[in-house]
Amino acid sequence: METNDSARSEFLREFPKTGPDTRAGKMLRHYWHPVCLSRDLNDLPYGVRMLGEDLVAFRGLDGIVGLVGMRCPHRCTSLEYGQIREQGLQCSYHGWTFDHRGHCVAMPLERAGSRAMGQISHLWYPVEEWGGVVWCYMGADKHNPPPLPKIDILTRTDGEIILDRGDFRNYNYLNFLENFADIGHSYVLHMLVPGTVPDDMRPYCNFTVNTDWRQLGFHVIETHFGMKSVVIHGTSDPELKYVNTWSIALPTHWRFGGITAGLAPDFTADRRESGGMLRIIDDTHFEIFRYTLLRSGNFRGSYFPQGSNVKRGVVVDRGTVVKKDYDYRKYPAWEGRPPLEDLVMQEMQGAIPPRETEHLVSTDVGVALLRRIWRKSMDDVAKGKAPKAVITDSEGVVEVDTFKGFAKAGEIEIGPKNMPSSKGNQGLIRDEQGRLVFA
Ligand code: FES
Ligand SMILES: [Fe+2]
Repeated sequence: METNDSARSEFLREFPKTGPDTRAGKMLRHYWHPVCLSRDLNDLPYGVRMLGEDLVAFRGLDGIVGLVGMRCPHRCTSLEYGQIREQGLQCSYHGWTFDHRGHCVAMPLERAGSRAMGQISHLWYPVEEWGGVVWCYMGADKHNPPPLPKIDILTRTDGEIILDRGDFRNYNYLNFLENFADIGHSYVLHMLVPGTVPDDMRPYCNFTVNTDWRQLGFHVIETHFGMKSVVIHGTSDPELKYVNTWSIALPTHWRFGGITAGLAPDFTADRRESGGMLRIIDDTHFEIFRYTLLRSGNFRGSYFPQGSNVKRGVVVDRGTVVKKDYDYRKYPAWEGRPPLEDLVMQEMQGAIPPRETEHLVSTDVGVALLRRIWRKSMDDVAKGKAPKAVITDSEGVVEVDTFKGFAKAGEIEIGPKNMPSSKGNQGLIRDEQGRLVFA
């Protein structure tokens, strides 16, 4: 028992780490990570801290993207202030120039024939540019990285893809990711049950969904991409169920098919396909990248039910909370906007939360599964094996389950398979009669 406890504490201590010499950091380095968006790389170098390492991305004059160590190996100044040249990235101080593979290709002050240049090899990582994103692989086998798994939304051509970055957080990335393994909080923290609905949405909402979330029960399943959580609500028709799925794809993608129970069919802002991924900066910082597929008919704005009272744990209308004069908290008037509610709950856990003091209960099954996946992968990497693989189709695409909508009781599959997706205009969401909307 004592051994189990100390192994658990040790895991919890190592779990949030990201650096190159940590068990978790070594595991994370087996996956591709987002660096920046393609549009961020123009004629200036782009400084970027990744998994605790300070790096610089740049687009060479030939259009090819490189990622090298930030600190010039000559006198340590930052290559973020370097110059993009024909042969690569040139340090502005004395002109040493590095190509995409970290070779030093110019030392303009040295005499011709100096051997110094050949002795310098600078830190570099392989990079791929795909889907409007620059990705890097920081694993050991730099010359032979695994193929980049193509995240499904970014491959879609049946709508407009909106890509955004720049939301920086000052706490461990797992505070964020575990939030997506915890579908239960949407009912309590966000109070996402049918409240008031804009008139133009009313015809499409099924108010017979039983939104009593107490003791609802969650299904969590390990999948080919990571894991998913599923909740099922009854409706007034015993044959018709309302299903909602949230997923996490390794290493840092999340996906949810909207959060408003029983509301919002396919074409609303809540139901458009959206999710994102994290750029892990270091143990206590990350940046959020969001991607959304807007299909014909999707609302562009965001929609959350609004009301006037906030009373957690009780089904009430909700709405904008006005700042009170005596509210001295860092985030006053934080209630009523789900993204801010999430930020507050995640940040207030602590930059690196004291996880060993937690008391997980049966409804924390999602958090527990996520930690099991991480723990097994960390152990496997420590033994010289590969961590959990992200399985793609023959095109290299990883399809992530995002089902949200109505399904006939007999059609619901609680298992690792994806529920029907909206791909190919299939129409993911069904109306209250179970018919596909926009099929
Ligand atoms: S410090 Fe970079 S070339 Fe001298
Ligand atoms: Fe949330």
